[in-house]
Amino acid sequence: MVLISGTGSAMEALAVACTRRELAADVAAVIADRDCLGLKVAAKRGIPAFTIEPAHYPAREDWKEALIECVGGFRPQVVVLAGFMRVLAPPFVDAYAGRLINLHPSLLPAFPGAHAVRDALDAGVKVTGTTIHFVDHEVDHGPILLQEAVRVQAGDTVQSLHTRIKNVEHRLLPKACRLILEHKVKLHRGITHVEP
Ligand code: GAR
Repeated sequence: MVLISGTGSAMEALAVACTRRELAADVAAVIADRDCLGLKVAAKRGIPAFTIEPAHYPAREDWKEALIECVGGFRPQVVVLAGFMRVLAPPFVDAYAGRLINLHPSLLPAFPGAHAVRDALDAGVKVTGTTIHFVDHEVDHGPILLQEAVRVQAGDTVQSLHTRIKNVEHRLLPKACRLILEHKVKLHRGITHVEP
């Protein structure tokens, strides 16, 4: 199960890995919090795709409940936030503890938030990267599962740097899901230990 808000390229990379059987799983469904390109990508691949948009609900609590209900209906083994730009309700986070991961385009804890690539460029860092972490109750925060550095190049724009980061994300995301599905990750005092 993948939650998105944007182009859905990471979701598609995961779906491709499943199709190639690099991962013994399928993307059961895609949920977006808005109309976005990723929904069309999912539909083209025959993946059930839903929009659950806060503005369509009387209160934020109703939206959160609808999201929990929709995800729960698929009984997912792993839930991936792949560019999903919303904060989840605590009961959602608790219900999927240990199998709810977020993809973030920086080396967390550096540059959390919605503009991680821009913030890294503005800070003048020479190396940034991507992080896949278990989700806890803070934004872009939780035990780190996988991380990989990406070098900033002279003349990089947000777009050029983000493209190289996404290339890494597309390779790491299937790996992260595989580690969880094969029970190769142990959590101890907020730190992950990955079996070789
Ligand atoms: C990815 O780079 C992901 O790391 C980022 O959104 C992008 C989604 O791209 N996530 C965050 O910034 C979370 N704070 P995509 O829609 O093309 O997969």
